[in-house]
Amino acid sequence: MNVLLINGSPHKNGCTYTALSEVAGQLNQEGIETTFVHLGSGPIRDCNGCGGCAQTGHCVFHDGPVNECIDLAKQADGIIVGSPVYYAGPSGALCSLLNRMFYGKSELYAYKPAAAVVSCRRGGASAAFDRLNKYFTIANMPVVSSQYWNAVHGNTPDEVRQDLEGLQIMRTLGRNMAWLLKNMEAAKDTVSLPKREPPAKTNFIR
Ligand SMILES: Cc1cc2nc3c(=O)[nH]c(=O)nc-3n(C[C@H](O)[C@H](O)[C@H](O)COP(=O)(O)O)c2cc1C
Repeated sequence: MNVLLINGSPHKNGCTYTALSEVAGQLNQEGIETTFVHLGSGPIRDCNGCGGCAQTGHCVFHDGPVNECIDLAKQADGIIVGSPVYYAGPSGALCSLLNRMFYGKSELYAYKPAAAVVSCRRGGASAAFDRLNKYFTIANMPVVSSQYWNAVHGNTPDEVRQDLEGLQIMRTLGRNMAWLLKNMEAAKDTVSLPKREPPAKTNFIR
């Protein structure tokens, strides 16, 4: 089994990575492989709502990491996204990536367990965390929780390492995701996926 971890920070080895690594360490200890994608500091354009991806399952723009992330997410058994907190929200780069990964394509990720983690210096963590969970909860993805909302506090990796409660939250998240993935694997031949209704699209109720 493999879990995809997307680091939405421009800093490859920064605070968000420090948190994600703590999660990944527990997944690895439980025998689950991990794949990291770092968004880095390059530009990532937002979704332009063209709908072209509905035909192909890929974004019409082949710049940047979006289509690679779509393919990695399709192959992964679980998905974790991490972000620094920017003005009480996730990074713009990560939102742009996720907008283009999910819009018109969320069915690709249905029933894959998912989680978000955020890193902030001081405040806005739970607002950013909530925003990221919106991608999963519109996509039939089971959201894996921890013992608290998934945040670490620090402005440098060293400060994050001093956030002992934050790191513990990350380790618990890793073990909880491993537990859910193993349960799903054990039950895959005996428990079928939930029945789905044809989607009702009520754009505006008059
Ligand atoms: C543009 C910008 C906005 C930020 N906004 C917040 C904020 O709202 N709340 C906060 O506590 N920290 C804020 N920070 C600090 C970062 O969230 C924090 O240092 C984070 O741990 C950095 O993670 P990284 O090393 O993975 O990039 C901001 C940083 C930047 C660059």
